[in-house]
Parts: sequence; structure tokens; C-alpha cells
Amino acid sequence: MTDSPSKHTPAGEAVPQATSKPPSRSESVVSELMMPHQANHLGHVFGGELLSMVDRAAAVAAMRHAGGSVVTVSIDRVDFKLPIYTDELVTCTARVNYVGRTSMEVGVEVVAENLRTGVKRHTNTCLLTFVAIDQDHRPSPVPQLELTTPDEERRFREGRRRREVRQQLDIELKTDG
Ligand SMILES: CC(C)(COP(=O)(O)OP(=O)(O)OC[C@H]1O[C@@H](n2cnc3c(N)ncnc32)[C@H](O)[C@@H]1OP(=O)(O)O)[C@@H](O)C(=O)NCCC(=O)NCCS
Repeated sequence: MTDSPSKHTPAGEAVPQATSKPPSRSESVVSELMMPHQANHLGHVFGGELLSMVDRAAAVAAMRHAGGSVVTVSIDRVDFKLPIYTDELVTCTARVNYVGRTSMEVGVEVVAENLRTGVKRHTNTCLLTFVAIDQDHRPSPVPQLELTTPDEERRFREGRRRREVRQQLDIELKTDG
């Protein structure tokens, strides 16, 4: 008998599940050149296009960390402070910030690069929460995060705080409503 959870491959055989993983092992980077059909008449890339990329990059990081299937359960507030234009290369870098029992907060940094000038702009940072699910689509435990740098520790603390605030707000609004 083992005290670590196990997952099952599609073929059905059990494979050992790591009890902890560093964020660097699940980091995901997705790049895409923005095309005219992804933008409005001003050449500004649609918010939905960006969110789709962000969700996919984050899902890869969450799946790598969980070692199995995940679903998006929440996308935090996303501000579009700088436009992204057609012909720019958009790169989304996703990292697992915080993990609970079955959920993972993933942070995604979005950078737009003008390939002619080489100028890069940090346009957005998004936070998403994923839940690992089992074969019955029910929440399934995820490995803990192995934190090795001050930045990773800070991101973990901030993720935990956001979760506390969200849960507190849920309680308050339910109580008042
Ligand atoms: C994700 C899902 C399986 C969770 O089911 P559930 O019955 O709410 O599960 P639980 O209440 O046990 O919550 C599971 C985890 O999700 C977290 N969670 C639930 N709702 C959340 C929310 N709105 N924001 C952040 N985390 C949330 C819980 O805190 C818990 O985390 P923990 O295990 O780390 O403590 C279910 O909500 C679902 O299937 N949603 C649809 C997902 C989907 O279709 N996404 C879009 C396409 S991928």
C-alpha cells in the first residue's frame, strides 16, 4: 500500500502520482501571431481571442501539475489596459501559483511583441483557477507545490490570500442576500 495518490492512464494501469512538484515543472508557454480575423476594424485584437489563448496556456500548466484532466472553474478579473494589434506575436506564460486540495490557481503573463521592431509590451496578467477531475468528472487531489524561490513563495501566499478573500466574500454575500 502507498500513501501517495495514484492516477490511471487511458490504458487503465495505475501510475504513481508525485506528492509535490515545483512550479517550473508545469510552466507552459504558448505563442501565436495575431491575424486580421482576430481583430476589430481598428486592428485591436478581440478580448475573447486573448482569453481563449490565456485559458489554453493555463490549462496546459494545470494539467502538467495535476498529471491528468482539469477544468476551468474561474477566471479572475481581466483588465485590458493596453491594446494588442494584428501582426504582433502574443506569448502567454502560465505558472501554477497556488494549490489547494483539488484546485490550482494559475497566473498567466501576456506579452505582445512587434516582430519588426522587437519591442515587447507586457499587456496583461490573468489569474485562473482549475480543478483536477477524475474519470467521473469529480474533483481529484493534486500534488502540493514545491516552493524553492522567494517569488514562488510570494505567489503562493498571494494565491492563498485571494482564495481566503473570495471565500469570505461568498459567505458575506450569501449572508446578506
Ligand atoms: C469544477 C467542478 C467539478 C467542481 O465541483 P464542486 O462540486 O464545486 O467541487 P467542490 O465544491 O468540492 O470544489 C472543488 C475545488 O474547487 C474550488 N472551487 C469551486 N468553485 C470555485 C470558484 N468559483 N473559484 C475558485 N475555486 C473554486 C473549491 O475551493 C475546491 O478547491 P480545493 O479542493 O482546492 O479546496 C464543477 O464545478 C464543474 O464541473 N464545473 C464546470 C467546469 C467547466 O465546465 N469548465 C469550463 C470548461 S473546462
